Amino acid sequence: MKKALFALTALALLASTAQARTWDEIKKSGTVKVATEGAFPPFNVLTGKVLSGFEVDLANALAKQLGLKVEWVTAPFDGLLIGLQQNRYDFVIASHGITPERRKAVDFTDPHYCTGGAIVSKAGGPKTAAALKGKIVAVQVGTTYLTNVQKLAGVKTLVYPKDTDAQTALMTGRAAAWVGDRFTGLDLIKAQKGLQQGDLLFKEQIAMAVKKGNASLIKELNAALAKVENNGTYAKISNKYFGQDIRCK
Ligand code: ARG
Repeated sequence: MKKALFALTALALLASTAQARTWDEIKKSGTVKVATEGAFPPFNVLTGKVLSGFEVDLANALAKQLGLKVEWVTAPFDGLLIGLQQNRYDFVIASHGITPERRKAVDFTDPHYCTGGAIVSKAGGPKTAAALKGKIVAVQVGTTYLTNVQKLAGVKTLVYPKDTDAQTALMTGRAAAWVGDRFTGLDLIKAQKGLQQGDLLFKEQIAMAVKKGNASLIKELNAALAKVENNGTYAKISNKYFGQDIRCK
């Protein structure tokens, strides 16, 4: 994680001379390039060639609001913010929590949902931070789950490129717990018998990221987000995936 952050910061410095597309340029082209991971249900999921999920629907709604077509790009989670530095797309929507470290490398929009990292284990397994001591916890690389679990003394982490693989590590018994998004966890315990959700370890605000300094794009994305939040579109999409409205309150 430290290494990845260092690489990200180094890249931020290297790439700082190349310009990201401004709002005017994006608007003129008629298409916005959006990146996500596609392996983080129910937020962003790639099934064959079809992208779906809360964040995919939301970004499509924002683009519609802005009068733009969307060109989707998928990449491993760990490389998404780096691709922003390299101008490979205009913005990223992949459930990134706003953190001071990430803020050094990219700029964030207003949050598009509020959530937290929660423990999931098998029945009888650890449900609290204290109970994780001496246990193996599976987490996805480059995430706030990893940094937060690493803060707990005496907890060993098993780190996977994909969150879904970290979940499998719990199911197959390689890890005593999985720490991930609380909404993902709710889906997981519904889908898999014998699992339980434990404590929320931390809270976070999730936002879209643009290349550092791309203020014109941030402004338009925030305006579009406010519009879809106020006209019922956001609530409709949120209810479709979660049965509740997950916006920050
Ligand atoms: N919310 C967590 C973070 O900010 C995890 C995000 C993982 N996203 C994904 N597309 N796999 O690090």
